[in-house]
Amino acid sequence: MIKKAVIPAAGLGTRFLPATKSMPKEMLPIIDKPIIQYVVEEAIASGIEDIIIITGRGKRAIEDYFDTSPELENHLLQNEKYKLLREVKDISSLADIHYIRQKEPKGLGDAVLKAEKHVGDEPFAVLLGDDIVKGNVPCIGQLMNLFEKYNKSIIAVEEVPKEKVSSYGMIKGREIAESTYLVEDIIEKPSLEEAPSNIGTVGRYVLVPEIFDGIKETSPGKGNEIQLTDAIKMLMEKGEVYAYAFSGERYDAGDKLGYVKAIIDFALEREDLRGEIERYLQEIVAVLPQNFKIK
Ligand code: G1P
Repeated sequence: MIKKAVIPAAGLGTRFLPATKSMPKEMLPIIDKPIIQYVVEEAIASGIEDIIIITGRGKRAIEDYFDTSPELENHLLQNEKYKLLREVKDISSLADIHYIRQKEPKGLGDAVLKAEKHVGDEPFAVLLGDDIVKGNVPCIGQLMNLFEKYNKSIIAVEEVPKEKVSSYGMIKGREIAESTYLVEDIIEKPSLEEAPSNIGTVGRYVLVPEIFDGIKETSPGKGNEIQLTDAIKMLMEKGEVYAYAFSGERYDAGDKLGYVKAIIDFALEREDLRGEIERYLQEIVAVLPQNFKIK
């Protein structure tokens, strides 16, 4: 059983500058909940009990967020705002969260390696904060279920449009069961010509502990960073690695367009916002030029 999850959150968030100059990108809200909370909740909903967040300089706000907040709680109590008080208190009791600092941003592989001592000799989950996945069964839970069957590392994948191929780890896979691939190659952020297929990895992984040795043997790759993708390739060469085309809607909340889409879609699901948002969207569509087409 997989009980531990690693959430790397040490990146500099350059895609969201200047907002992320003094604020972790993981704390950007989708309406009123920071991105990282969606990720933590997905892990918990999948049965994870122990979460390791890899942080870095300037990421204190994440620790404060999941901590208790006595002054705020007291204030809400005094003002009889019980619903908000419950919500605020619930956040600090979500899970057993540990923090490890990555001193320099040396890449995703290096960030995951920081969790080695805490994870120990067990398979574990990795969830990247840039990806939010909405669906009936949590995405990482889907991979965890499959792990029970194969006992090997499993990566979440989906089809990637041509113009985005160079932003993802891309795989070559042989479909061995419905939505399940045996990975035959994996390349970090290839050019369109180099890409082995149009299937890309999204930020959910179940990894066997041997990945740590793989990361240690991995030299800096794309962007001069130690890439998790390269270490996974090493695992693949020594044994099997699987990929799973999960079900659910995934938002790249680390990308401006993906972030806005996530906000709209999540707002449309909320009782308190849906009506007004729908009306507003209709207003916008009504004033679009007649020949406007959604790309
Ligand atoms: C990371 C990984 C990449 C993966 C992507 C998914 O890249 O390195 O392999 O496809 O996450 O979101 P990043 O988006 O952090 O640059």
